[in-house]
Amino acid sequence: LDKILTFSKLISYKQLVQEVEQSVYATLILNHLGNVLSVNEVLLKATGFQYEAIKNKKINEIILTHHIENLYEDYLDRADRKTLKVQWKNITQDTFQSRVSIYKGMNNEGDFIYVLRMLDVTYESRLSLIQRFANAMITGINFGVVVIDNGFKLVEISDLACKVLGIQRKEALNRPMDQIFTLIPEEQRIIQKTLLDGVSLRNHPFTWTNNKQRYELIVDTNVLKDELNKVVGAYVIFKDVTNSRSLEQQIRRHDRLAMIGQIAAGTAHEIRNPLTSIKGFLQVLKQTLNEKGLSKEMDFTEIMLTEIDRINGLVSEFLLLSKPRDIQFHQVDLSSVWKELLPIIETEAILYNVEIVNKMESNLPMVVADRELLKQVFLNICKNGIEAMPDGGTLHITSQLFEDEKKLSINIHDVGPGIPPYVIDKIFDPFFTTKENGTGLGLPVCQRIIHDIGGTIRVSSKGFGTTFSIVVPYNI
Ligand SMILES: Nc1ncnc2c1ncn2[C@@H]1O[C@H](COP(=O)(O)OP(=O)(O)OP(=O)(O)O)[C@@H](O)[C@H]1O
Ligand SMILES: [Mg+2]
Repeated sequence: LDKILTFSKLISYKQLVQEVEQSVYATLILNHLGNVLSVNEVLLKATGFQYEAIKNKKINEIILTHHIENLYEDYLDRADRKTLKVQWKNITQDTFQSRVSIYKGMNNEGDFIYVLRMLDVTYESRLSLIQRFANAMITGINFGVVVIDNGFKLVEISDLACKVLGIQRKEALNRPMDQIFTLIPEEQRIIQKTLLDGVSLRNHPFTWTNNKQRYELIVDTNVLKDELNKVVGAYVIFKDVTNSRSLEQQIRRHDRLAMIGQIAAGTAHEIRNPLTSIKGFLQVLKQTLNEKGLSKEMDFTEIMLTEIDRINGLVSEFLLLSKPRDIQFHQVDLSSVWKELLPIIETEAILYNVEIVNKMESNLPMVVADRELLKQVFLNICKNGIEAMPDGGTLHITSQLFEDEKKLSINIHDVGPGIPPYVIDKIFDPFFTTKENGTGLGLPVCQRIIHDIGGTIRVSSKGFGTTFSIVVPYNI
């Protein structure tokens, strides 16, 4: 800024504002009438004004002078033409002395503008060592830090907090917190007024959504008291743990799957053996009823048999969750897998008036997996997609190679209603279903199978339509 001002370089107004922002001195830009056009953060901190409030103020509301032009002439009159002593006021009308330098320039419209720098009012000169330390904490640090005063106004905020809360530092400084978050209901804010009543938090998990991005935070809050034990403000410190929280959730899910698996392995045979004999005797019974012409009773046995098949199917899915020992890993040709699958999926699709659009590459690479299990995964996910479109629609199937990572993605996209955010976390949980006749085992079984071959299943659903991507490693 110094160079630009002393050598009267030609720069745009926007550039000037940016340079002023960088300056370590409290600086104002004024128009020819002496109205404030812009100020930097140092000045806001020194005067305690909000940015919006100080903009358009008259110079004499801040500096004790009549007119900007008078001030400028006084400045020019000085022999050394370096600095001029002025008095200025902060928001609480306390007065201070300061040396200022004044520069005059012209904007695009041909009007004069002035740049005033208060040379005694810098970050450095005003700050004690401890304050400088606090400053370093605020700017570089990987913590969200927010400090408010007892009027619930924002005194200080760290870069990370600005990012997570989605606010601009300069616009927010010295403003009341409830003005900053007008759009968010009180209960959903991290920083609540009750904080000043001494309601403190320790390691409080908090989910915060801003611009469609979701943050998982661990929050600590407390009040700040002066020597007389009077509350003078409060602070909020948080750590962004978005990544580790989702990892933790994955582990918990995995644990739950493992437990169900163990139960399944232990009880599956105990359930199946009696079922086999019940089924055997039922078939005999059905035969006899048939011979005796008791057709109504025969229909009952028919229903009982289908129900037994359902139980059997359920037990088989249970067993899949328990990681059965007889999985056979082979090189599987995905193209031929899909050739077998498509007719089955199409039959299902016709029932729902759904059209299948297959845009997969014709030559998919080989994948090491259990062929039958892999088929089950694709079938389950396509079925979910079809079931999501009861009034018809299209199901797109595409493939994508990530050669750097040697991974292949099969994407199954439906145009159904999508999965709401509060449901999406649960869809891989065993027994989670929103369907009347669903078991809720489809997706957890798929996930188990894909995890076992080193792959992942990703879901994206943004309001409308859903895409499931099955990403698996390939060899060649
Ligand atoms: N493509 C999709 N569109 C919308 N919701 C879906 C989709 N896929 C899955 N879901 C949601 O996820 C839930 C769990 O699916 P999952 O396949 O595990 O069980 P299910 O389909 O309900 O029952 P099952 O597969 O055992 O018949 C579904 O009930 C549904 O709410
Ligand atoms: Mg399903």
